[in-house]
Amino acid sequence: ASCDLHARFRPFAEKMEQAGLDPMVLNVFKSLYDRLLCGETGDMPERSVVPVKEGEIRRYGELADYTDLGMTLMNQVAIIKLNGGLGTSMGLERAKSIIPVRDGMTFLDLIRAQVECLRSSYGVNTPLLLMNSFRTHEDTLAAMRGFDNAATGLPLTFMQNRFPKVLADSLEPARWLPDPELEWNPPGHGDIYTSLVTSHLLPQLLAAGIRYAFVSNSDNLGALLDPALLGYIAAEKLPFVMEVARRQDTDRKGGHLARLRDGRLVLREISQCPNEDLEHFQNVARHRYFNTNSIWLDLAAVEEVVLREGMVPLALIRNRKNIDPRNLGSPKVIQVETAMGAAIACFPKASAVEVPRSRFAPVKTTADLLTVMSDCYELRDDFSLAPHPDRAAALPSVRLDSRYYTRIDDFTRRFPQGPPSMVGCSSLCVTGDVTFGDGVVLSGDESIRVHGAASVFR
Ligand code: UTP
Repeated sequence: ASCDLHARFRPFAEKMEQAGLDPMVLNVFKSLYDRLLCGETGDMPERSVVPVKEGEIRRYGELADYTDLGMTLMNQVAIIKLNGGLGTSMGLERAKSIIPVRDGMTFLDLIRAQVECLRSSYGVNTPLLLMNSFRTHEDTLAAMRGFDNAATGLPLTFMQNRFPKVLADSLEPARWLPDPELEWNPPGHGDIYTSLVTSHLLPQLLAAGIRYAFVSNSDNLGALLDPALLGYIAAEKLPFVMEVARRQDTDRKGGHLARLRDGRLVLREISQCPNEDLEHFQNVARHRYFNTNSIWLDLAAVEEVVLREGMVPLALIRNRKNIDPRNLGSPKVIQVETAMGAAIACFPKASAVEVPRSRFAPVKTTADLLTVMSDCYELRDDFSLAPHPDRAAALPSVRLDSRYYTRIDDFTRRFPQGPPSMVGCSSLCVTGDVTFGDGVVLSGDESIRVHGAASVFR
């Protein structure tokens, strides 16, 4: 297939050029498209990987000695938040980070407060950079009004690129006349390496003396800049450090960290695991760690890879969808995407650190949101959200009836007084249309079930 890559790619190239995309984006897409044409599966059977064992990577708690060094480097690091995603899984066609989480403060308000607090308590000018997509940019600018990186002269935002959707049958560019915007998809957070270059930020950061970046999801309010981790990457001259956490039974189906036979660290997703190896894949005592999607980069090392290879080459993710996701009769397409963490395999000296769950508070669903909004988490003085000490071992498992709680507006309407107290709750399962009254306290295993008419739970 590779031999006709050139001809097959031409219509994509024309479309991307017309859209004004940078030549580097064309090259990155072309190499991914090549793998799509070849039918490359990216399979990683068990025999091709080696588990990462206890003691092989450092634990966060052991890094305290690096704190003093890290403190001296706070002006040499940028905080980058991945903010290009929409809250589509919560029925929101806008930036997920504008959802209120605590005392009326949104994810973005809290991130801003975290950085302001960090700047004043350390007396530093650490810049905050938000990677937006076209769909999240306006909302983000409005939410961040009055905040800037004036002290370093750096912009507050940069824009990720976009990729053309590919028709699943013919692997040709997808056309959709009813709404040509839908012919494009966000390229996934792996685009950060490309967009740092195409936005000219990478050389700008290095010229401003910013050698490191701490990158995390904007929906993870536990991901705070940490001097010990910063000191660790600098002292050990590491190009790339991934924050990983211990897999629990509930993480069985999520990806894990492993080593390739040549010793490089790699991420392995369930889609890359052949059926006969699923048992090993899901064995959380064998494959112990998962990627929290918080990473530390030595920007000089990233620049080196880009200069050498023209890009940071990442594994292809095929995301199968309808071109109009709300219209299941519309043509089937493949969205070509990449993931930021996959770059761990590009740096032979990359390393991982096991961090406590308190640095990982992701919000993917309204069930996650309820937990994060509730008193299972506490807002600390530095504006981080961390599990309540009584909940540090395990957060409650929450299941909300998908008919009434999946969309953020439906969810919000059913908690008009805010979330119930859940700090004493080990699991919650809500079936039916229940609205929660004021001052509700949930404890132990709660199963709330109503049939028929909507009712209020007090
Ligand atoms: P998602 O919330 O889409 O989760 O993105 P994911 O893809 O499953 O990623 P994992 O499980 O965390 O690895 C995670 C973060 O990346 C941003 C989102 O805004 C969110 O903060 N993102 C995602 C982008 O910035 N651009 C994208 O194209 C996709």
